[in-house]
Amino acid sequence: MNPNRKPLVAANWKMHKTLAEAISLVKSVQEETGPCADREVVIAPPFTALEGVGGILKQPGYSLAAQNCHWEEKGAFTGEISPIMLKDLGCQYVIVGHSERRQLFGEKDETVRLKAGAVFRAGMAPIICVGEVLDEREQGKTFEIVASQLEGALNGLSPAQAERLVIAYEPVWAIGTGRTATPGQAQEVHAFIRDKLASIFNKGVEKKIRILYGGSVKPSNIDELMAEPDIDGALVGGASLEVGSFKRLVQFKS
Ligand code: 13P
Repeated sequence: MNPNRKPLVAANWKMHKTLAEAISLVKSVQEETGPCADREVVIAPPFTALEGVGGILKQPGYSLAAQNCHWEEKGAFTGEISPIMLKDLGCQYVIVGHSERRQLFGEKDETVRLKAGAVFRAGMAPIICVGEVLDEREQGKTFEIVASQLEGALNGLSPAQAERLVIAYEPVWAIGTGRTATPGQAQEVHAFIRDKLASIFNKGVEKKIRILYGGSVKPSNIDELMAEPDIDGALVGGASLEVGSFKRLVQFKS
């Protein structure tokens, strides 16, 4: 982490938790973890629990996020949710381009770009996910893949929007596998992403953009990841579903 950027620990609950389970977990997280001043906690429950969780997410330092959205404000898009609807429920962030959406639901850089713009227009900030699959890493293509995902997704955003942007580097081979990138591997890609952001936007903007690491983040590896200068937080799946482990992640030691 870098003292000039407020660390952000985000819980991506994916397709887990009924409304009652979500409310119970978020109550426990707030009771156990308490208010946060020097770090930000973001909770991304499924759509069905956004209103319920948002209604009790009152602890200072906590914000609500959605896991996906459509890029249009409204229209004949059966089954989709618009950014305006998410803003209306109190969301401050939307996760966009998660690798599960890319791999399982055909999300492309172009739709990530459209969604990111729509999220800004609705008055929220996107958490844009990038990351290579194992094959790409083994072929030495990590930087090439991440660069093209960033270029595709960020094209057209203004430097003013960029300052509010959050990027999550999530190597696909580390998601849900227990196989975390080493702090060195993650830092190398985070530094590359920051350089790339400097070339896409005005130089200097990249220093304000938070870059999260995601992929098997756990209580046993959070501190060493957060010790890296370009890792500004974590996007957490499995370990965010249980209060004890998530509390320890929020309370990482820097
Ligand atoms: P895990 O923490 O379960 O590996 O998931 C990471 C992730 O995909 C967060 O968005």
